[in-house]
Amino acid sequence: KKLIIINGPNLNLLGKREPTIYGSLTFTEFFEALKQKHTNVEIDYFQSNIEGELIDKMHEVGFSYDGIILNAAAYTHTSVGIGDAVKAIETPVIEVHISNTFGREEFRHQSYISPNAAGVILGFGLKSYDLAIKSFLD
Ligand code: DQA
Repeated sequence: KKLIIINGPNLNLLGKREPTIYGSLTFTEFFEALKQKHTNVEIDYFQSNIEGELIDKMHEVGFSYDGIILNAAAYTHTSVGIGDAVKAIETPVIEVHISNTFGREEFRHQSYISPNAAGVILGFGLKSYDLAIKSFLD
């Protein structure tokens, strides 16, 4: 199986950014450990702070990969374009968030991804990504 993790804006700063909410591990450190754990599956990784680049990547992988694990970060709550891309492609998308967005500000309760996602996993810290991979492998 071939999966990809797509991370949106500001997630390149994981480890430095608001560590009380997002933890102190960098995504690169976490991703290496994740790949060691799941040697039976190919996992790619892409991060961008640019909305259109996230959409381009989804188009690129969205007709050949087995699953997309998408943390669109702040674009989750604003981007009709990313929401439409989830709908347009064939590969199923699991929406993930590190934090429990429903326990935070009201504007984080809205998601343009959820209506077309295969499922949503949030609030488990970086483990949310691991749970998404497990869901795709089951
Ligand atoms: C986030 C939650 C979003 O509300 C926020 O804008 C992020 C990260 C999370 O993983 O918890 O950047 O997607």
